[in-house]
Amino acid sequence: MTTAQTSCCDLNTTKRAYNFSAGPGAVPEDVIRQTQKDLWDLFGSGIGILEHSHRGKEFDRVLEEAEADCRQVGNIPDNYRVLFLQGGATTQCYQIPMAFLAEDATADYIYTGKWSGDSKNEAARYGHVHVAGSSEATGFDRIPDDSDISYSDSPTYVHFTSNNTIMGTEWHRTPPKAPGDAWFVCDASSDIFSRPIDVTQFGLIYAGGQKNLGPAGTVLVIVRDDILERQVRDLPWMLDYSLQAKKQSRFNTPPTFGIYLMGQTFKWIQRQGGLKEIQKINEAKAKVLYDAIDSCDFYKPHARVKDRSLMNVTFKTPSPELDAKFLAEAETHNLKTLKGHRSVGGMRASMYNAFPHEGAVALAEFMKDFAAKNG
Ligand SMILES: Cc1ncc(COP(=O)(O)O)c(C=O)c1O
Repeated sequence: MTTAQTSCCDLNTTKRAYNFSAGPGAVPEDVIRQTQKDLWDLFGSGIGILEHSHRGKEFDRVLEEAEADCRQVGNIPDNYRVLFLQGGATTQCYQIPMAFLAEDATADYIYTGKWSGDSKNEAARYGHVHVAGSSEATGFDRIPDDSDISYSDSPTYVHFTSNNTIMGTEWHRTPPKAPGDAWFVCDASSDIFSRPIDVTQFGLIYAGGQKNLGPAGTVLVIVRDDILERQVRDLPWMLDYSLQAKKQSRFNTPPTFGIYLMGQTFKWIQRQGGLKEIQKINEAKAKVLYDAIDSCDFYKPHARVKDRSLMNVTFKTPSPELDAKFLAEAETHNLKTLKGHRSVGGMRASMYNAFPHEGAVALAEFMKDFAAKNG
């Protein structure tokens, strides 16, 4: 039997940076502290979460609570399954069309950046793809207006990405109603549970964990029961949604730690007062940065104003040289991982649910100062 001899680090005094990473991103500090305890000993069992069997009663409890808390947070109706799968959001890019898109059928994709682009390209392996709307012509600086979206006659489903992590654009509405009995598939990887969500508008929602839910690798899938019956291919076990649903995401050894950490994150959201409160917090944080951008001519935002993301704020200074200087100086102010994606350049400040308001204020102050000295 072992007892803790020394503590590896003091979580109360270690200096933490303001981490603007686009993902994996900031995790709530409460969650990190609880996890540290549960890594050592879960529920007083004398065994840590990493060491528990996925068939034992402790993990039964972790899984049951994670699902129940997810349902409570997202107000998910009983006719939807909550699955914790593997392979990240990228696996969903092909798993969805493999499961649901017949060879002679069409799926519609709204193309708003890299992630929706990857999804449509993967879908083309399995059936026909119709690009129902695109913002490619304007460098993905926007979400297409309803008038620029045109669906095919009878798509199986319509796929869109609710928040474009790289571009810093976000849907602040649902796309126009899909034709016939087509259902919406939403890649919500970078804005899941950042605001209230009406799950009933979707057939399937998926989100990689590493932005608003905690761990990379694990993916949350919320899927309506009747969709599960529409699989068009004989699928490998691991890719069979209905089998995963029947086995409560435990067909094989599931990502136990990822599910645990998502569960802790759902509990943290509940402690913040749920998604309505989380939305207010996120709106306030984003406003601090957009105000800093709009208050002078120095910064050039990437996204069209009405489509601005609450999660990823993208902007540039007047030149690539000043962008580099901005990033280097920001680091020395403890403002880290602000470099924009290589396809956009400039800066990207990602502020998921766990990112603190003070970090947005610190960056805004730095931005004002930097513009005054370099403008
Ligand atoms: C919107 C969106 N979709 C999909 C992905 C891919 O996620 P993963 O790396 O978990 O496969 C990302 C990753 O950042 C993303 O931001």
